[in-house]
Amino acid sequence: MKTTIAQIGKHVGETVTIGAWLANKRSSGKIAFLQLRDGTGFIQGVVVKAEVAEDIFALAKEMTQESSLFVTGTVREDDRAPSGYELTVTSLELISEAKDYPITPKEHGTEFLMDHRHLWLRSKRQHAIMRVRNEIIRATYEFFHKEGFVKVDPPILTGSSAEGTTNLFHTKYFDEDAYLSQSGQLYMEAAAMALGKVFSFGPTFRAEKSKTRRHLIEFWMIEPEMAFMDHEESLEVQENYVSYVVQSVLENCRLELKALDRDVSRLEKVQAPFPRITYDEAVELLKKEGHEIQWGEDFGAPHETAIAEKYDKPVFITHYPAEIKAFYMKPDPERSDVVLCADLIAPEGYGEIIGGSQRIDDEELLKQRYEEHNLSDDAYKWYMDLRTYGTVPHSGFGLGLERTVGWICGTEHVRETIPFPRLLNRLYP
Ligand code: 4AD
Ligand code: MG
Repeated sequence: MKTTIAQIGKHVGETVTIGAWLANKRSSGKIAFLQLRDGTGFIQGVVVKAEVAEDIFALAKEMTQESSLFVTGTVREDDRAPSGYELTVTSLELISEAKDYPITPKEHGTEFLMDHRHLWLRSKRQHAIMRVRNEIIRATYEFFHKEGFVKVDPPILTGSSAEGTTNLFHTKYFDEDAYLSQSGQLYMEAAAMALGKVFSFGPTFRAEKSKTRRHLIEFWMIEPEMAFMDHEESLEVQENYVSYVVQSVLENCRLELKALDRDVSRLEKVQAPFPRITYDEAVELLKKEGHEIQWGEDFGAPHETAIAEKYDKPVFITHYPAEIKAFYMKPDPERSDVVLCADLIAPEGYGEIIGGSQRIDDEELLKQRYEEHNLSDDAYKWYMDLRTYGTVPHSGFGLGLERTVGWICGTEHVRETIPFPRLLNRLYP
């Protein structure tokens, strides 16, 4: 019977066939151990010379790394195997012999691996990361559908910018100028006025000149937007959402987290509610610890890490100065120099994973912001209409998928969290 490695536990004692690639092998004169992978998982196949036809054992011994084959064997339970099972091979059928595979089991440098990203994805570690990413996406859809949100798709080609103009990707749209979307937020606000609670999931683009372990040029964002919800209510959605995602990964990706050597005790603590600290308090705390920071300056990675270290859960930093945040954020009614916003900082030095805020709902104030930020009436008229026709208090946020994957998997660099990373100076493969 044909099956997959993920399903093999249902066939203990039976003879099954799987399509697989040879990830690695070890052999002596009498026995060969084949490390097999089929995309769904990894398993060891044992070929005993005395128990198979001569040509089968010869094939097992000679087969090159990443050759593809059909493997037939008997499924045995094995406590020592990570998957819990082993295959006693009875027959092998070669599909295609791989030539010299560049990624051998020895160590390789990062640039070499990045040049071979299309093959590197097959490795156990990358396989685990992609499966965790998939689980985060699955849990995201599940969470928002349970909470009554509608999935809406904002455009990728846009005529306006949500997050300032410094890192916009410019392109031509026939005779007009256009930009690749930095954020779907402005369109999601329009969607919230039509559908109430909405969320998007799509690629976003920022021509970031920064070469850090947290920045991609192309990254994927989940952007919920909620009509009739204020800043505080939005924070509750955020902490419930992030907890849900982390707990889903813990439940459904045990093997992957093990393959990644992730300390799951750190993730188990990620349960709502999350601590909150204001920007003012954070600045005071940093100053006390000897950081050079003045009120009004934005936080860098070392500042975020210093604050995150105080907690074993993600922490919200709220009420940033209006000056350093986007034009659409609503000022605190008690203090107009700060806005009703929050960044969610992940533990263990992974930095900001969410940026969010309550939005300006007052038409006059938004007009004032248009002037201060030189936003043309042509490109942003439609966004003003949302205030002209039945404006309501509303809030939303954006979660960066890759930073979240990086944190949950414990990766060193965000380049491992997306199948084909787009980085400064890298468009290949
Ligand atoms: O804080 P940001 O810029 O917020 C927005 O774009 C809002 N319009 C979202 C909203 O309210 N709907 O970006 C949101 C998140 C960040 O917290 C970070 O996780 C991620 O997107 N992010 C990046 N991830 C990888 N590489 C980059 N260059 C990123 N820039 C932002
Ligand atoms: Mg931000």
